[in-house]
Amino acid sequence: MSDPTVAKAIIEGLRSTPKTLPTALLYDALGSALFEAITELPEYGLTRADLRMIEGHAGDVVRAVGGPVDVVELGPGGGRKAAIFLRAVGAAQAHTTFTAVDVSAAALRDCKRALEAMDGVEVRCVEATYLEGLRRAERVPGTHRLVLFLGSNLSNFDRRDALAFLRDVRATLAPGDALLLATDLEKPAAQLLPAYDDALGVTAAFNRNLLVRLNREYGADFALADFAHEARWNALDRRIEMHLVARRACVVHLLDATVAFAAGESVWTESSHRFRTDELRACADDSGFACIEQWTDAAWPFAHSLFLAR
Ligand code: AVJ
Repeated sequence: MSDPTVAKAIIEGLRSTPKTLPTALLYDALGSALFEAITELPEYGLTRADLRMIEGHAGDVVRAVGGPVDVVELGPGGGRKAAIFLRAVGAAQAHTTFTAVDVSAAALRDCKRALEAMDGVEVRCVEATYLEGLRRAERVPGTHRLVLFLGSNLSNFDRRDALAFLRDVRATLAPGDALLLATDLEKPAAQLLPAYDDALGVTAAFNRNLLVRLNREYGADFALADFAHEARWNALDRRIEMHLVARRACVVHLLDATVAFAAGESVWTESSHRFRTDELRACADDSGFACIEQWTDAAWPFAHSLFLAR
């Protein structure tokens, strides 16, 4: 259960200033279930905006890429967005290959189950990181590849890493292939903060579950009551940050490390960046793509940018 490389990263993070923990650790089985619950919260408009937009213009995306496509989704979750998307693709072509790329075998299983009954869709699964999966996903002759990266999953990357990631994605593609990138847009902090600090406390549970996991899998002794969830808007870097803040001074043991917390000291667990539409188009230019279409949702500012590989 406890991976030595991850253990090293955890201890390094807790020894640095400010203290951090790897964001990926949020997604164990309970964390993934809590994230699914977050997507249903009244305060969390992202997922609904994403779904609305896929419903609205999946057909336009396929037409804009032109010709038959094979679809690869990075991090498809339960396959709910893919199902809507593939229905629209089905109106344009009789047969579609859909490849799901995820590090979680459980997510792939759910996704496959949700999609395999669809007529004219062949579902393939690749258990790998995004880039490794893109490289391994077999090409379908006579099609353009269309990569879906939805849910604003790009937002966890620092801006520089996001651009590097887009370049790496581009390197796996041929000219004429495409990337549909869904990202959350800047909006007033008064609208955004409640999405990360909801009235029911689901996001707090999602964040604090990280400590539950460290206690279970890495033998840590965090007292849950000592740590509070906090969401902060960092205006300079245009991102929400999730923190776990020590309510009082305390000491925590984890493997062979001892970590002291001052009262009010935080562990930074996640960054979730916001974007501007023009910034996204510039990212396309800087990563070997051209942004050929962009759709936005007004009710919850959110963008779908269609990047064509040059
Ligand atoms: C899955 C990274 C898009 O940043 O909104 C939700 C994760 N964290 N609530 C996001 C998350 C807290 C989510 N992403």
